[in-house]
Amino acid sequence: MLRRVCKKDDIHDNSMKAFRLENNDILIGRRNQKLFACSNSCPHRGASLSKGEFNDDNIVCYMHGYEYNITTGRLVTMKSWKKEEGWAEQSQEWRSSADLNMYPVVERDGYIYVEV
Ligand code: FES
Repeated sequence: MLRRVCKKDDIHDNSMKAFRLENNDILIGRRNQKLFACSNSCPHRGASLSKGEFNDDNIVCYMHGYEYNITTGRLVTMKSWKKEEGWAEQSQEWRSSADLNMYPVVERDGYIYVEV
């Protein structure tokens, strides 16, 4: 079902904002004029992606630096952590991550709608 979330001007270009919708934490963003919507929860360990930043067409999670493509939702970069940087790889299982959960999003009559 399409849900109206905010005014289109609430999401400026190259920015993103988190919303609570139907018990889902949803991140809506605009990157180089292109609108996207996805789960705000990082598929790796659940960090809030709204605290992340863009890298080209990817969103970079602030927690461990994993990158997800904002068009496809695919995990595209898994940063490798070294002990010297204060982190150690814990296990292959800990390292693994699913792709990002994307939502259909449209702009209509000055508002942004997401299908949940
Ligand atoms: S929680 Fe997002 S990269 Fe680990």
